Amino acid sequence: MSIRTLDDLLAEGVSGRRVLVRADLNVPLDKQTGDITDDGRIRAVLPTLSALTGAGAKVVVCSHLGRPKGAPDPQFSLGPVAGRLGELLGTRVHFATDTVGDSARSTVDALADGEVALLENLRFNSGETSKDDAERGAFADQLAAFGDAYVDDAFGAVHRKHASVHDVPARLPHVAGRLVLREVEVLSRLTGEPERPYVVVLGGSKVSDKLAVIEALLPTVDRLLIGGGMCFTFLKAQGHEVGSSLLEEEMVGTCRNLLERSEGKIMLPVDVVAADAFAPDAAHDTVPADGIPSKRVGLDIGPETVAGFAAALKGARTIFWNGPMGVFEMPAFAHGTRGIAETIAKTDAFTVVGGGDSAAAVRALGLDESSFGHISTGGGASLEYLEGKTLPGIAALEN
Ligand code: 3PG
Ligand code: MG
Repeated sequence: MSIRTLDDLLAEGVSGRRVLVRADLNVPLDKQTGDITDDGRIRAVLPTLSALTGAGAKVVVCSHLGRPKGAPDPQFSLGPVAGRLGELLGTRVHFATDTVGDSARSTVDALADGEVALLENLRFNSGETSKDDAERGAFADQLAAFGDAYVDDAFGAVHRKHASVHDVPARLPHVAGRLVLREVEVLSRLTGEPERPYVVVLGGSKVSDKLAVIEALLPTVDRLLIGGGMCFTFLKAQGHEVGSSLLEEEMVGTCRNLLERSEGKIMLPVDVVAADAFAPDAAHDTVPADGIPSKRVGLDIGPETVAGFAAALKGARTIFWNGPMGVFEMPAFAHGTRGIAETIAKTDAFTVVGGGDSAAAVRALGLDESSFGHISTGGGASLEYLEGKTLPGIAALEN
């Protein structure tokens, strides 16, 4: 890998230079209060930012938050993130109320050596995510004007061909930050020759998001355990009725085909927790996976499934886990995710947790982060890396 790193940039000297850092500060927010519910992604970028401020750089941080549609939208403001970032860095973060406008220009111009600015949400500008190269390029020109060098530390966004990820590095001397480097190092251990048995646990709601990675992983893994909302489309493909559980009808055929080709590697739930409604206080009980009553909705994997999955995980030497096993945000439906997370934490395997949701689940359930080998900040990014896809953000750093 011919990527220059933050250490290379630091060795050149950054004192007094403006360094534009693309971070992934896309943190989950409480829908009611707007509070940051998990600051893992902010903490993950601190090593890069502290190294730069410590070396006297003028640090200009940019990020997206949520999916605003190319125009300012207050619910997606990075303002609260600027506050939290400042607390964690132990220094004031100067917040620009636009991304490349007057506020951004004056904020960047006023930076002293060792100070940090955060620009408003990149996606308040249509150029950031545009499919049109010229429109993205024009926005990248404006962003690049704020830096003498560029650091990509937004691992969670390296799979996006967006201006700040893909086009800015073509305009400035560019390096990979500490987080991006560490993520790539760890994930490459999974695509190389993982120590066997190699067991992958996939959950989360959408099968369609995971098909490509399942396809890519099947030849490599020894066992593939499937839970979460996506398991119901597989159960349907096995000929079971799933009641009013999450179902992607148009994927049933594809799932059937995967099951046929999986040589028995795919393990599905044998029991599920079925509820009257999608609600924290809904009446619920455990039913066999082939006997979900027609009006019930499956919201978690059942205890027998947890035990079966745990047995498959016990002897593993390498484990990758992406996606919760149930609606873990509701305590009644968190047992499956907790059971699997605790099992993974206890194994001697090299363990990688991928994805914003699974990482947030680990922290929300109060599990010790250090009992996992690596907790990735990237959901889609880590999956696409494992699929073997070219990631626009990584490719841009290689050039
Ligand atoms: C993520 O949360 O997966 C990353 O921040 C990327 O966000 P996106 O899926 O909206 O591009
Ligand atoms: Mg995502």
